[in-house]
Amino acid sequence: MEVLISALQTNVLSLILGVIIVGLLWMNRGKQSSFQRLPPGPPPAPLVGNLFQVDTKEPYKYYLGLSQKYGSVCTIWLASKPCVIVSGYQTIRDAFITQGEAFSGRALYPLLVRSTGGYGVMVSSGQRWKDLRQFSLTTLKNFGMGKRSIEERVQEEARSLVRAFQEYDGAPFNPKDLLCNSVANVISSIVFGHRFEYNDPDFLLLYNTINAYFNMLNSSFGMLYNISPRLMGLFPGSHKELFSQLDKSHAYVKKQAEIRLRNLDANSIPQDYIEAFMIKMIQERDSPKTEFTYDNLLGSVWNLFSAGTETTSSTLRQILLLMAKHPDVQECVQREIDEVIGQDRSPCLEDRSKMPYTDAVIHETQRTADLAPTSVPHKVMTDTEFKGFHIPKGTMVLPLLSSVLIDPKLWKNPDSFDPQNFLDEEGKFKRNVGFLAFGLGKRVCLGEGLARAELFLFFTSLLQRFTFVGTVPPDEIDTTPSCCSFGRQPCTYDCYAKPRQ
Ligand code: HEM
Repeated sequence: MEVLISALQTNVLSLILGVIIVGLLWMNRGKQSSFQRLPPGPPPAPLVGNLFQVDTKEPYKYYLGLSQKYGSVCTIWLASKPCVIVSGYQTIRDAFITQGEAFSGRALYPLLVRSTGGYGVMVSSGQRWKDLRQFSLTTLKNFGMGKRSIEERVQEEARSLVRAFQEYDGAPFNPKDLLCNSVANVISSIVFGHRFEYNDPDFLLLYNTINAYFNMLNSSFGMLYNISPRLMGLFPGSHKELFSQLDKSHAYVKKQAEIRLRNLDANSIPQDYIEAFMIKMIQERDSPKTEFTYDNLLGSVWNLFSAGTETTSSTLRQILLLMAKHPDVQECVQREIDEVIGQDRSPCLEDRSKMPYTDAVIHETQRTADLAPTSVPHKVMTDTEFKGFHIPKGTMVLPLLSSVLIDPKLWKNPDSFDPQNFLDEEGKFKRNVGFLAFGLGKRVCLGEGLARAELFLFFTSLLQRFTFVGTVPPDEIDTTPSCCSFGRQPCTYDCYAKPRQ
């Protein structure tokens, strides 16, 4: 009798399982056919796809391997979702420039959505993104016409940074926080119209929120949150603290916007990003489709802070480490500074075109640092035919920038730090189409001009005053950035900033 019952139970369970599988297949039948002509890739396992094959520590290296095996367009499955990886200069160009409109969408991962409620220039796609991007680009460009140009704002911050380094009086220190403070303060100056003292509670709120956000993005908890936000949201943990800090930061920005709105003359020249946004809000208040809303203001301000702080300060951290590692390169930069700028005035942007070696060192730092190897995820806006494949609307697409930054066909010396990669035989600065540190196409980094100005002015201001020396001999310094799930980061180090005679 027992044998009969057990056999019956097994049959019922098999039947239920069978019904579920048939149901899932039935529900996915449309999807399956639209996925049939996706680019090739490693066979996915049921439900988890290729999740367990991706090297979570260095995902971009796994993708580089795939592109060698399957070609410059290939597909991996992140659980039940396909993700197309595009690599190599020509293929990336064909996608993001030639078919730029189709590839211009932004794929969303849950932490990014949670940080802005899905609003803001970096997170949006379609018309909202176009309006916010156009506005942000014009506003950054127009600051040259306001009371103070962006150049002046960076110069002011660079002077504060030099003073802060001087306080160490030749003792070793970790430059990370000071560099991060300065770069965050440049964005503050653009967004709020003024810099903050580093111990100002409002500045600390914004600064600590950015740090907590990047720590979360780079943690295994953050990775799990991005895969299953609802489930991970049920657990206690540092994400609750981060979300509460994010809410407080947004509330602070909103308060600043409301203060400006009270006395705003809509015909005046705006002095900061928030003021420019509020003017747009007033001008478009009767348009039902306007994107100039508080939600998009808070989202965009957060995007400027989060996208503009970590990237630029990490590049500066890496360049100082490289100077300690390569004293000969540091000497050449200092010689150029002495010849073009001297010791009696602050560096300015006009100097850059007369300093090809310094410019080459900055570019080469960015090329070898490769901080965003897979850029920020895109998605296709429509069903897209590409290189004989079919990519369904909404599919995530990753441009593998790394594949171009280290391509031996594009660089004289791809595998090591060599400023000659950006110099011609006469020592003049030489552009290279493979320099994709800021991405390319319609979504190319919105802050590229600002970042380039900051890198030049901060770097030259520091090398004008100091020589950077490591706490171990140069040949023992490891400059390889560490990899985390989100990108690459310079390693943590202490150094000496020795005052120059
Ligand atoms: C060395 C410094 C920087 C690097 C390496 C960098 C790199 C990048 C990359 C690779 C992207 C993604 C492009 C794409 O989606 O295809 C991006 C987007 C973006 N960056 Fe930067 N960035 C830097 C500095 C900045 C700064 C200073 C700002 C602030 C103004 C900024 C604001 C943004 C924004 C708002 C986006 C999103 C643009 C959009 O979605 O249309 N970045 N950046």
